[in-house]
Amino acid sequence: MASVRVVLLGPPGAGKGTQAKLLREQFDTCQISTGDILRKAVVDKTPLGQEAAAYLNRGELVPDSVIVNLVGERLKEKDCENGFVLDGFPRTIAQAESLERILKTMGIRLDGVLSMQIPHDVIVDRLAGRRSCKNCGALYHRVFDPSTRGGACDQCGGELYQRDDDREETINTRLNVYETQTAPLVNYYGQRGKLSEIDGVGKVDDVHRRIIQALGGVGN
Ligand code: AP5
Repeated sequence: MASVRVVLLGPPGAGKGTQAKLLREQFDTCQISTGDILRKAVVDKTPLGQEAAAYLNRGELVPDSVIVNLVGERLKEKDCENGFVLDGFPRTIAQAESLERILKTMGIRLDGVLSMQIPHDVIVDRLAGRRSCKNCGALYHRVFDPSTRGGACDQCGGELYQRDDDREETINTRLNVYETQTAPLVNYYGQRGKLSEIDGVGKVDDVHRRIIQALGGVGN
């Protein structure tokens, strides 16, 4: 099977987590969703979670050093041998430079960076309606992709909840943080010939098809 080593880039609510899961299933790679890892650490009250909690609540980025070490270690795990989908990392130029160094040490290269684009009003609709499973992390949307079991997860029966950082004021902070600290990565990867722009509006399967098309013969 082909392998992929890709980064999903895009503002909050662009659909990175949704598409990362589909890519992980299709290519049998590991999925590294830094937001999910941090939220779990907060719930588990680990040292990482205690350090990250305040940043997550405010919608700000946790320090680069924390996240770079975390991803660097995760990439060495066995399930990443057949490739990886990075969702939510890198998010600053410094993180992107660190990723380059980590991959160089490992003797591998990124296949591509998929920059997902959606307009502001769609972002707000998606984040306001998002529900996640407390148990398995499955994603739903109150309108676009509701659970058939009301407040319970279709896959495991776990309780669905709304993320704390999906409140209106925190969404605004997250969007500002994206524009100032993460959007410059579009140029960074564009200049390196790695970037594909993906229209993130439309049905989940249609967006997935666009991504597969953009990946072309990647990893074959
Ligand atoms: P993180 O969890 O990564 O949040 P984010 O980047 O803001 O992205 P989201 O998870 O909000 O959205 P998404 O693009 O994954 O969309 P989704 O697929 O869920 O990070 C959270 C926090 O952790 C950060 O604020 C920061 O504090 C910290 N952090 C994380 N990484 C960091 C890093 N590298 N450095 C420093 N700090 C870091 O979709 C959204 C909704 O829309 C869902 O309900 C879904 O069902 C629905 N949906 C998806 N696609 C479609 C579609 N095509 N049509 C209709 N609905 C759709």
